Amino acid sequence: MGAMTEIHTPRLLLRRWDDDDLIALSDITADPHVMRWIGDGSVLDGDGTAEAVERWEEEWDDEGFGVFAVELLGSGELAGAVGLSVPEYLPEVLPDVEITWRLGRPFWGQGYASEAAQATLEFALQDRGLDRVLGIVRPEDAASKNVLRKLGMEPERQTAHPAYGFPLDVHSIDLTEYQA
Ligand SMILES: CC(C)(COP(=O)(O)OP(=O)(O)OC[C@H]1O[C@@H](n2cnc3c(N)ncnc32)[C@H](O)[C@@H]1OP(=O)(O)O)[C@@H](O)C(=O)NCCC(=O)NCCS
Repeated sequence: MGAMTEIHTPRLLLRRWDDDDLIALSDITADPHVMRWIGDGSVLDGDGTAEAVERWEEEWDDEGFGVFAVELLGSGELAGAVGLSVPEYLPEVLPDVEITWRLGRPFWGQGYASEAAQATLEFALQDRGLDRVLGIVRPEDAASKNVLRKLGMEPERQTAHPAYGFPLDVHSIDLTEYQA
């Protein structure tokens, strides 16, 4: 594990991953409702979840940004994963960075995704000096589009997923104009 990057929001702690998170994250990524619009929509087993965390931690080490573990300040429960990632699956948008999220179903509908995402955009600008962040979603993913809209991210264009063929909507935000 690398540098101690932690962000507090009113209700959340955003932090690096720990081996103790794997069981809680595996429960989240085993839920087809959570995974429906991620990748090809497949759920992950325990090994797949551990590989995902390994990739995120590698990204933290290599890039100085990554996907945060999102913990509820009150209970210490793991609500899910929100953060920044290099969208390697979509070479046409590189070197832009995307914001990504997945919360466990018990944590939907409470504004946690937006709270974590807003803090992530501030981190992107203030700590990492990124002036632009993308949001890449399936057109059917209404919950994510709602979060993108609340963040002030604007639809830019549609493209196709190179591996799976389905459409992807690319949104973006110019962080130099971003007001939290
Ligand atoms: C996408 C996802 C993160 C969105 O979560 P969400 O809970 O809908 O989003 P938010 O955290 O912004 O919560 C929004 C709702 O919480 C409610 N809410 C309750 N208390 C709130 C509070 N204190 N502050 C803000 N909103 C609150 C609001 O009704 C709000 O809905 P609205 O914006 O329509 O008014 C979640 O559905 C998810 O994890 N989905 C599966 C993973 C996925 O699809 N990832 C994307 C792949 S690219």
